[in-house]
Amino acid sequence: MKARIRLQKDCIISPIDPRVFGSFIEHLGRAVYTGIYEPGHPTADAFGFRGDVEELIRPLHVTQIRYPGGNFLSGYDWRDGIGPKDKRPVRPDMAWSAIEPNQVGTDEFLQWCERIGAQPMMAVNLGTGTPKDAVELLEYCNGDMHTYWADKRRENGREAPYNVKLWCLGNEMDGPWQICSKTATEYGRIACETAKLMKMFDPTIETVACGSSYRTMPTFGTWEEEVLRQSYPYVDYLSLHQYYTNHEGDVMNFLARSEEMGEFIQEVAAICEKIRLEVGSDKHIGLSFDEWNVWYHYAKNGRVPEKWTVARPIEEENYDFADALLVGSMLNTLLNHADVVKVACLAQLVNALAPIMTEPGGRAWAQTTYWPFLYGSQFGRGTALQQEVEVPTYACGVSPKAPYLSSSAVLSENGAHVTVFAVNKSLDEAMTLELDGLNAVLEQHVTLTAPALDSENTADAQPALPREVAVGAEAPELPAASWNMLRFR
Ligand code: AHR
Repeated sequence: MKARIRLQKDCIISPIDPRVFGSFIEHLGRAVYTGIYEPGHPTADAFGFRGDVEELIRPLHVTQIRYPGGNFLSGYDWRDGIGPKDKRPVRPDMAWSAIEPNQVGTDEFLQWCERIGAQPMMAVNLGTGTPKDAVELLEYCNGDMHTYWADKRRENGREAPYNVKLWCLGNEMDGPWQICSKTATEYGRIACETAKLMKMFDPTIETVACGSSYRTMPTFGTWEEEVLRQSYPYVDYLSLHQYYTNHEGDVMNFLARSEEMGEFIQEVAAICEKIRLEVGSDKHIGLSFDEWNVWYHYAKNGRVPEKWTVARPIEEENYDFADALLVGSMLNTLLNHADVVKVACLAQLVNALAPIMTEPGGRAWAQTTYWPFLYGSQFGRGTALQQEVEVPTYACGVSPKAPYLSSSAVLSENGAHVTVFAVNKSLDEAMTLELDGLNAVLEQHVTLTAPALDSENTADAQPALPREVAVGAEAPELPAASWNMLRFR
């Protein structure tokens, strides 16, 4: 099969906001306890955080990490997670039917972010929480005056403000599963007043309002419109969440979901523009795709973990190679919409729906989905380029004309390289990829393949690992069913 991409260094989509390479840690399952944090683990640092997990996170160059939820957020009182650890309350976490020991809270998380070199993206509880709870958390994090909560932070051992810049106003408040879910008007009002109050305290912060929990929510569209109408002046970004499944075992349809994701982004961007015109504002609302991934393996075979345990091991997706192909394609979709998507978070980072897995007390390893994210994050910084793509298509449920190729093209920050990320979705045919208009030499070709679509990386075996392909003068060949990175100079 042949594909051709035409591109030019000066035909750009937009500079890529580095924050599209974010991720997410929720108090969910073993993401925190026995994930990032496990005092007593042989690799634990002085703060009880796992060194082996940190070593896997670092190369991902995750720009920001969303915290503490997720559904967990809507029942969480941040005050439970500060101060001496032996005085912190143990609470039932109603969102995930787990026990929350509160041994990791705001200070531990924010200091861990500093150590691993990621920015925090904090979220305030707008389920059981109030605007007052939210602004007091902001005061605790960012306050530099001698006020009650800023002094409490000092008392807890942290003098300097954390200066957290990005704040989510609740989580998935349209979802009936959400603790204290709301109508669009109810949510729009509280989001507005919370953001207003928070910005009165710290005008340098940016806020993210909740969009729909996923595209097929019955209120998708009307929810976004009403929330923005109610809160426009105080909101900077609107969130999108989407996880894809393959319960039907239809891989070609599954792989086409990245096209659907692009439509979803365009729809939400159009709604933002419509409301901007309606309210007569010059400000453009950016998109924050702050939960994106594949999610469907864990519940297979009726697996139901025991409830009300600490670090209840749920949503531990064992990602296979097909998932890595879709994750790579979804990242392409985000880069191809760099003009509107300014923030994104791969959901999540460790154990729960994650590219990194751990054994309690034992090993940590990278899943298949780790690799497309790693290369995207390391080499996908710069400016997204427009591409004119010619490639054969196939018919599936998602689209009568789904392309066999998913690609994105990035001009590096120093202008020296163009990096093309390319997924060949054909399961049985290699693809020769011709590039027109660039007048550049292929310097590096990295490919990710696996023995089978259902190959999984485990602690014992890593069948899906990236490898370098020798480059020559001829057009590169993308193996059947492969993710690839091509670097031109
Ligand atoms: O990421 C897992 C869950 O998915 C989050 O808690 C929630 O926001 C979403 O429904």
